[in-house]
Amino acid sequence: MTTISKINLGKNGPLVSKLGLGCMRMSPVWGGPVNDESESIATIRMALDNGINFLNTGDFYGAGHNELLVGKAIKGRRDDAFISVKFGAIFYNRQWLGLDLRPIAIKNFINYSLIRLGIDTIDLYQPCRLDGSVPVEDVIGTIADLIKEGKVRYLGVSEITTDQLRKANSIHPVTALEIGYSLADRQIESDLLPTAKELGIGVVAFANTAEGLLTGNMKAPLAANDYQNHFPRFQGDNLVKNLEKIEVLKQMAKDKGYTPTQLAIAWVNAQGDHIMPLVSMSRRSRLPENMQAMEISFTTEEMNTLNTNFAPGAIVGNTYLQR
Ligand SMILES: NC(=O)c1ccc[n+]([C@@H]2O[C@H](COP(=O)([O-])OP(=O)(O)OC[C@H]3O[C@@H](n4cnc5c(N)ncnc54)[C@H](OP(=O)(O)O)[C@@H]3O)[C@@H](O)[C@H]2O)c1
Repeated sequence: MTTISKINLGKNGPLVSKLGLGCMRMSPVWGGPVNDESESIATIRMALDNGINFLNTGDFYGAGHNELLVGKAIKGRRDDAFISVKFGAIFYNRQWLGLDLRPIAIKNFINYSLIRLGIDTIDLYQPCRLDGSVPVEDVIGTIADLIKEGKVRYLGVSEITTDQLRKANSIHPVTALEIGYSLADRQIESDLLPTAKELGIGVVAFANTAEGLLTGNMKAPLAANDYQNHFPRFQGDNLVKNLEKIEVLKQMAKDKGYTPTQLAIAWVNAQGDHIMPLVSMSRRSRLPENMQAMEISFTTEEMNTLNTNFAPGAIVGNTYLQR
């Protein structure tokens, strides 16, 4: 199988795999069927065996279920894994209620996370969003305190604005920015990506398949119980238009002998040495395909074709990323 290279996450940051494993979909977050737990654990272990050490979870993924799962998977092999945890989102009955970023809450959250994961230190700890309800100084200052205490190694942030990124970094050096990025969602190219580069912050790019749109497997209309139906991008004419756009990706994938998903991951990977594709994989069968994506390169002509067809705004309708 492909060897996954390592990169420094951020300027002089920790050494992590260039491909990250997103564990979110191993737990019920938005609803839908619960994944096979033993297959999820086997997938995490297979990823570690193949040099993918960056594991991404959140304390709200399945109300702690996801951290327990990751904890089981890394038992006895803590040193093989780099654990990234998000906190702050409050879900009730699988509904997003908002954020709790109070220092007192963060200090509570982390102790539960450490117990569920079965570890003493979280490698990368990050608020899942910042909403102004608590001053950024207090949120980031609390994580800086946790770093001093040894409960956290590095500070991360997720889904924030350029101003918030600069502010957070001025309070404590930010190691990584976790952000949605794909051929279908390129809005961060105008400000956040250049700012992260300027500040020497690593980029952990998720939703590379744009909620499955870029896999080439989607058909209009979606089944009535698909969670994607909540997003305008996947509704009515929008979905029909968006699937027409995907034809270019499907054809290029066919011509190159890969799958559309592989090209979608490869495109994110090609955007910079400091950018890590963070991909959800809940079954071992995904790993060989997605690892192989890291070997794919594009000619200038192919890159131009993709960048033109998927120019910012080409995919119509919002998802939660534009919220
Ligand atoms: N910071 C944030 O706000 C935020 C938000 C969302 C997600 N995340 C993190 O980012 C990770 C990735 O995000 P994501 O799940 O939204 O996007 P994604 O990686 O694009 O995954 C979406 C779906 O693609 C499927 N998939 C993976 N490889 C495939 C392949 N080769 N062919 C066909 N389908 C394939 C996955 O299925 P299976 O699961 O069935 O394998 C998954 O259901 C999450 O696990 C989570 O850790 C962060």
